Amino acid sequence: MASYNALDNRSPYGSGDPYYSASTGYIAPANVKKPLSKWIKFGIPVAVVVVAGAVVAGVLASRHSNKSSSSSSSSTGSPAAASSAVSAKNAVGIFPTATDSEFMVPIYPSTTNAAAFSTPTYNPSNTEFAWPKDPFAFPSNPSPTSLRSDRPRLIAPKYKWDALPGLIANDPYLKRWNDTIFGNATTYFSLPPVQYHLDGASGILDNAREVKMRIKAFAYVYRMTNDTKWVDRTWQEIQNAAGNGTTSFGPSTDKWNTVHFLDTAEFSAAFGIAYDWLYDVWSDEEKSQIRFTLNLYGLGPGVSVYQGDPSGVGWWSKGVYGNWNCVCNGGLTLGSLAILGDDTTGNAAALLGYTINNAKQNCALGPSQDGTWNETANYWYFGTTGHAEMTSSLITAAGDDFGLLNANPNFNLTGLYHMYAFGPTSLFNYGDHGPNKFSTTANSMTFYASQYNAPQYALFQRDQADAAEPWSMFWYDPTISGAFWNGAPLDHFFDYAGDQWGSMRSSWTDINALYVAIKAGSLQGHQTHNDLDCGDFVLDALGTRWAGELGSGDYLSLDYFKSDAQNATRWLYYRKRTEGQNTVLVNQANQDVSAQPKITHDTSGTAQGSSTVFKAPSDSTAYFVADLTSAYFDVTSFSRGVRLLNGRQQVLLQDDINAQGAVMWRMHTNATVHVDSATSATLTLDGQTLKMEILNAPSGAQFATGDAVRLNGDPALPAGQSDQPNPGVTVVSISLPAGQYSLQVLFNPQWPGLQTSDYVTPSSVPLSSWSLTSHN
Ligand SMILES: *[C@@H]1O[C@H](CO)[C@@H](O)[C@H](O)[C@H]1NC(C)=O
Ligand SMILES: *[C@@H]1O[C@H](CO)[C@@H](O)[C@H](O)[C@H]1NC(C)=O
Ligand SMILES: *[C@@H]1O[C@H](CO)[C@@H](O)[C@H](O)[C@H]1NC(C)=O
Ligand SMILES: *[C@@H]1O[C@H](CO)[C@@H](O)[C@H](O)[C@H]1NC(C)=O
Ligand SMILES: *[C@@H]1O[C@H](CO)[C@@H](O)[C@H](O)[C@H]1NC(C)=O
Ligand SMILES: *[C@@H]1O[C@H](CO)[C@@H](O)[C@H](O)[C@H]1NC(C)=O
Ligand SMILES: *[C@@H]1O[C@H](CO)[C@@H](O)[C@H](O)[C@H]1NC(C)=O
Ligand SMILES: *[C@@H]1O[C@H](CO)[C@@H](O)[C@H](O)[C@H]1NC(C)=O
Repeated sequence: MASYNALDNRSPYGSGDPYYSASTGYIAPANVKKPLSKWIKFGIPVAVVVVAGAVVAGVLASRHSNKSSSSSSSSTGSPAAASSAVSAKNAVGIFPTATDSEFMVPIYPSTTNAAAFSTPTYNPSNTEFAWPKDPFAFPSNPSPTSLRSDRPRLIAPKYKWDALPGLIANDPYLKRWNDTIFGNATTYFSLPPVQYHLDGASGILDNAREVKMRIKAFAYVYRMTNDTKWVDRTWQEIQNAAGNGTTSFGPSTDKWNTVHFLDTAEFSAAFGIAYDWLYDVWSDEEKSQIRFTLNLYGLGPGVSVYQGDPSGVGWWSKGVYGNWNCVCNGGLTLGSLAILGDDTTGNAAALLGYTINNAKQNCALGPSQDGTWNETANYWYFGTTGHAEMTSSLITAAGDDFGLLNANPNFNLTGLYHMYAFGPTSLFNYGDHGPNKFSTTANSMTFYASQYNAPQYALFQRDQADAAEPWSMFWYDPTISGAFWNGAPLDHFFDYAGDQWGSMRSSWTDINALYVAIKAGSLQGHQTHNDLDCGDFVLDALGTRWAGELGSGDYLSLDYFKSDAQNATRWLYYRKRTEGQNTVLVNQANQDVSAQPKITHDTSGTAQGSSTVFKAPSDSTAYFVADLTSAYFDVTSFSRGVRLLNGRQQVLLQDDINAQGAVMWRMHTNATVHVDSATSATLTLDGQTLKMEILNAPSGAQFATGDAVRLNGDPALPAGQSDQPNPGVTVVSISLPAGQYSLQVLFNPQWPGLQTSDYVTPSSVPLSSWSLTSHN
C-alpha cells in the first residue's frame, strides 16, 4: 500500500488529483503495485504459535526455529544465546498473520494465547527490551532554547540510535519496521526528486509531505548503514525543494507557498530533520545552504506570522483548535530546534518563543473533553502527527514537553477516540477526509501510549499498515506486552455536546465483526470540515462496510471552506448536504446548523478477553439514542436510535418522528441492492450478504434505490461547480409523506452457520422506552 490515505481509496480531489483515476479511484504511484488478491499475506509469514494456556519459552522457540529463519532474531546478529524472554517474544512474533488488501487492516489469528495476549503493560524493568536512560543531563529549569549538546536533537537522540540495533534483534515489531523502512527508502531512492505540482488543496502539501517522508527514510537508512549514498540522495531532494535542482520547483519567491502555510511548515520540518539527523555528515557549506533556504522560505515567514502577520497567512495561529495549528507550529518548531545555535538570523530562537505557547492554547485543544478530534476522524491523523512530532522533539532536544501534553487535561483520551472510530474494516470517516497522507500516520498513538501510560494505544497501532516509519522506531517502547483488546470494552460513547457519538462492535480482532458508529453533535465548530450529518451512521459486518461515507467534496470548489452558516455554499454540495448522509431527510432540506441534539445510551459493558476468538453473550448489547428535533426545521419531534441485538449479530435502527414535511430515510452503500419486497431488501458486497427489513412498516413504507446524486428540486450549485461523482454507490431509501411514524429498519448480516430461525425479530418499543433489556 502507499502511505497516502490508506483509509479511503477515493481521491478527495477528483480528476485533478494525479493519483486519481475515474475508473478505479486512487491509483498508486507507478512504482507501487496495488495488491490484487483480497487476502494477501505479509511478505514474511509470521505465525502466532497457538499453545493455549501453556506458553513455555523453550517450546515456542524451538517450534519457531523450524518455521522461518527470516522472521526471527537469528538474522540480525543478536547475542548467540538469546535469553528465554527474547526467544519467547521472537517466537510469538507479530500478532496479525496478514493484512487485508482492500481495507489495509490487520488480520488476527483465531487463537488463544493467554501469555502473549495479556493485559497491556509496560515492563520497564525488562532491561533486554528497554531503551537506555538518556545520558544527557538537562538543566533543572528547562528552556526550549537550551538544548542537548549532541546530535540528533529531534525525536531520535544518538543514544537511541546506538541502542536500536540491539533492540531490533530483540523485538519482532522493530525488526519488521526496520526492514520496511529500508525497503521504502530503496524504492524512493530510484525515483526522481519530488516533482513540483499544485495539488487539490490550493497548494503543494502533497509535495511537502512526500519530501518529508523520503527524507525521514533516507536519513534513517544512512544512520543505520553509514552509506553516504543516502546522504547524497537526501541532498538531491533538499536541492530540489530549494529550487536549486535540475527541474524547476515553483515560483521564484515564496517557494514553500506561505499562503497555504501547511506546505511551508511541512517543508520546514523536512529540512529540520535532514539538517539534524545528518548533522555530522553535512559540510559547513551544505549546512549553511540548508539554513539559508529554511530561513528564507520557512522560518522567516513563520516569524512574520507571529510579528503582526502582515501578509495574513497566519490565521491558523488565532484560535484554531485543529490540524492547521498543530502542523504549522510543529513544522516551525522542528525547523527551529534543528538549527538553533547555528542560526544567525534569530528566527529559530524567536519562533521557539511563540510556537509552544500558541500550540498550547490551540493545537492542544484539538481533542475535546471526551477526546474527539475537533475536525473529523481523518483530520485527527494530521493534527496528532503535528502535535506528537513537536512535543517529542521538544522532549528530546530540550528535555521537556513545556506543557504540550497536559495543557489539555483530556488530551490522553484522543487515543481512545481513534481506537473507537476505527471499525473492523475502516474509519468512521464522517466529514472531510483531508489530503493525501504521505508522512502522516497514526503513530502518534505510539508516542501517546508512552507519554500517558496508555499501552493499549501502542499495541493497537503497532499492527496497522502505517506503523512502519522512522518515528515508530523511536516512539515504540519494546518493554510493552499484552494485547490491546484484552479488557477493552466493546462500546464507547463520546458525550461532549459538540461531538456526541457512539461506537459499538462485536469484537476487536475479527475483520468480520459487526460495528456500528453513529453521531449527533453540533454542526458548526469543526473548522468547516463537517457535513450536515446528525444521525449519520456506518455499519460494518462480514468483513465489509455496508453503510458508508462519501467523504470530501472537491476542496477547490467555490467557497467550499468559506462558511458553515445555514446559507453557506458548502452546504450546496451533495457530499456535504444532509441528503448525502446516512440519515433522515425532512422536506428535502438540509439540517439546521444550530442543532443541539441530546443523547442517551447504555451498554452491557462487555469487554473482550485475552483470546482473539470472542463471541459476545446473547444478552450483550448497547444502544445510542439521539433526540434530533433541534436539527430539523419541519419536525415537532424526532429521535433516532440504534441498538445491537441477538448477542451483537443484528442491528435495529429506529426513527420515531413527527414531521410536517416529507420524510426520506437514506443510506449510502457500495453493495448491490436487490429490493425483494416492499419491506425487505438484499444487499451483496465482497461476496457477502446482508438483509434489511422494515419492521412494523408504516403504511406505504417501502424500500427504493437510487443514485448518490443531488435530488430534483435541490437548490442549484453555483455556476461552473459540480458534485463529485459517487461511482458504485447506491442510495437505499424509504419515502413517506408528512406524518408521525416509528420507522424501524432491521439489519441482518447473513452470518455463516446462522439459520433463519437464529435471527430475532424485535418487538416494537418506542425509543423513549429503550433500555438494555427492552428488546429481550
Ligand atoms: C513501504 O513498504 C511496504 C512493505 O513493502 C509497502 O507495503 C508500502 O506500500 C511502502 N510504502 C510506501 C509509501 O511506498
Ligand atoms: C534493518 O533492515 C535492513 C534491511 O532489511 C537490514 O539489512 C538491517 O540488518 C536491519 N537492521 C538491523 C539492526 O537489524
Ligand atoms: C556508523 O558509524 C558510527 C560512527 O563511526 C559507528 O558508531 C557505527 O557503528 C557505524 N554503523 C554501522 C552500521 O556501520
Ligand atoms: C539554493 O541556491 C541559492 C542561490 O544560489 C543559495 O543561496 C541557497 O543556499 C541554495 N540552497 C540550497 C539548499 O542549496
Ligand atoms: C473546535 O475548535 C473551535 C476553535 O477553533 C471551537 O470554537 C469549537 O468550539 C471547537 N468545536 C468543538 C465541537 O468543540
Ligand atoms: C487519562 O488521564 C486521566 C487522568 O490522568 C486518567 O484518569 C485516565 O485513566 C486516562 N485515560 C486513558 C485512556 O489513559
Ligand atoms: C465505498 O468504498 C470505498 C472504498 O473502500 C469507501 O471509501 C467508501 O466509503 C465506500 N462508500 C460507501 C458509501 O460505503
Ligand atoms: C448568507 O447570509 C448572510 C447574511 O444575510 C449574507 O451576508 C451572505 O452573503 C449569505 N451567503 C450566501 C452564500 O448566500
